[in-house]
Amino acid sequence: MAKTKYLELFLFILEYLYERLLRLIRGVESMDEEYVEGKVVIVTGANSGLGKVAALEFARRGCTVIMACRNVQQGQIALDEIKKKTNSETLLVRELDLADLSSVRKFATSIRQEFPVIHILVNNAGVYSDADQLLQTKDGFEMHMGVNHLGHFLLTNMLIDNIKRAAPSRIVNVSSTNQLIADLDLDDIMLRKATSLGFQNSLPYNNSKLANSLFSLELSRRLYGSEVTSYALCPGLVQTEVFRNFSPFRKFYTKMNILLFGLTAEQGCETIMYCSLSKKCAHESGRIYRFSRHFNSAMKRLEPKMASRLWEISEELVQLKQ
Ligand SMILES: NC(=O)c1ccc[n+]([C@@H]2O[C@H](COP(=O)([O-])OP(=O)(O)OC[C@H]3O[C@@H](n4cnc5c(N)ncnc54)[C@H](OP(=O)(O)O)[C@@H]3O)[C@@H](O)[C@H]2O)c1
Repeated sequence: MAKTKYLELFLFILEYLYERLLRLIRGVESMDEEYVEGKVVIVTGANSGLGKVAALEFARRGCTVIMACRNVQQGQIALDEIKKKTNSETLLVRELDLADLSSVRKFATSIRQEFPVIHILVNNAGVYSDADQLLQTKDGFEMHMGVNHLGHFLLTNMLIDNIKRAAPSRIVNVSSTNQLIADLDLDDIMLRKATSLGFQNSLPYNNSKLANSLFSLELSRRLYGSEVTSYALCPGLVQTEVFRNFSPFRKFYTKMNILLFGLTAEQGCETIMYCSLSKKCAHESGRIYRFSRHFNSAMKRLEPKMASRLWEISEELVQLKQ
């Protein structure tokens, strides 16, 4: 059993390297993009890494960009930087802490009143810790599942009427290749049975990233016919701050990998922009992308039944119907 898992992991790494090589040879995938000047876009986690580059790219195209950040000061610094580069007058920072559902509700309530139509929602923010002990959000959820999945689940659902009003509109969920090595038990999504993670210390992150893709799939099913499309993507291995909570050894090891096989934040953001703007994928709701192409090995492993069950569990956890 363990041997099969290692073999699988080895094949995934080979597949990644092959696609990375293709990306190097072919360059950026052309996307034939939609005209988005004046459209309203929300990017979560827009103060650093991929979110910040995405905010800049949308600002460059004349969008109204709502930078949803947990630290407003950090958000403002990023906004000033983007403004300098793009001369955009339509950028704003709003506070959103995905580790606290009351913050998500406050953010969504004010945004849906202020912006009756929302054209693109990029669920990008994410945490990744390799701590041996499980961490918790303010609401008592396992931190990765809480921030990366449940916070975005509630946010998206609270904004959905405004997104529908803007149709054709898009919801872009930043997942990860790590979804391929997830081991998500729907009877225990908070990993309460695990006391210490040991060698499995990436499991909470991997599971939350699988949850991102399952959410995207189920969202596409529920939105069928509405002209709101939903996408999941892996940005590749990217030089950002996401590994900031790693132990020194793992940080060093990850940096070496990025140096050899990784992408810059600008390159990593290409797939976010592709899913947000490309006419080529305008009708491909529910799919997963990597390097701006179909990420078939991830897609094949997504089970619609699991996606639907995860939705019901998430709905109960965030008390969506109350
Ligand atoms: N970099 C990679 O190689 C890679 C690979 C696969 C997938 N991804 C995914 O890409 C996404 C963006 O990550 P990144 O690489 O750009 O890393 P990053 O630079 O660390 O950006 C993560 C963003 O998420 C925000 N965030 C974290 N916790 C939050 C919370 N509780 N509420 C609101 N915002 C929160 C961070 O805010 P603070 O600055 O305040 O912490 C930051 O703005 C993540 O979903 C990550 O899982 C990245």
